[in-house]
Amino acid sequence: MVGLVRPAELDDSAAIARVHVATWRTTYGGLLPEDFLASLDAAGYEQRWRRTLRERPDHVYVAEEHDMVVGFASGGRERAGETGYSGELYAIYVLREAQGRGHGRRLVQAVVGGLREMGLTDMIVWVLRENRTARDFYEKLGGVFVRSQPITIGSALLQEVSYGWKSLDAIRY
Ligand SMILES: CC(C)(COP(=O)(O)OP(=O)(O)OC[C@H]1O[C@@H](n2cnc3c(N)ncnc32)[C@H](O)[C@@H]1OP(=O)(O)O)[C@@H](O)C(=O)NCCC(=O)NCCS
Repeated sequence: MVGLVRPAELDDSAAIARVHVATWRTTYGGLLPEDFLASLDAAGYEQRWRRTLRERPDHVYVAEEHDMVVGFASGGRERAGETGYSGELYAIYVLREAQGRGHGRRLVQAVVGGLREMGLTDMIVWVLRENRTARDFYEKLGGVFVRSQPITIGSALLQEVSYGWKSLDAIRY
């Protein structure tokens, strides 16, 4: 089926929060503490997404199937001062049941379009080292390993790794 990706609107906050919580649970089960995943609160995330969308409406995109939000992605200026990168893919999540149908690829394309509009020409993304599916996805898109660093999520001390594209033109959709 043909999926649609469009810029997120304020009214998408609840749907994005639902996808956020559901995908964190399916993606990070076994990786992050169960009590942390159980405590994720869709209402709290809805408020956070509402704030984000109010402040930066152009950099969040949703993927839809039959008018239902099944994924989202966000991006913008690189946040941590990584040398050599000015653009960043902040987040990309597609419901498990909707994965493998091109939503991820289309969401990356949308975020990259947003980065280009901001005049940014490269992109970095951070991913948990143990998240093999997402790492495969970024490698398939031509991302090059940059480095790894520790990250604390809830009570878990983990490693995250970054992938970079020195030029947005180098992304292999
Ligand atoms: C990573 C993710 C965003 C990819 O989105 P998607 O909609 O499944 O990806 P697409 O259908 O656009 O697939 C694009 C390519 O990625 C690769 N890919 C996608 N899912 C894959 C999987 N489960 N295993 C291996 N490769 C995969 C495929 O090579 C695919 O290319 P193909 O269609 O030519 O085979 C999605 O799987 C997801 O949300 N995962 C859970 C959340 C997550 O880990 N987010 C990233 C956090 S940093």
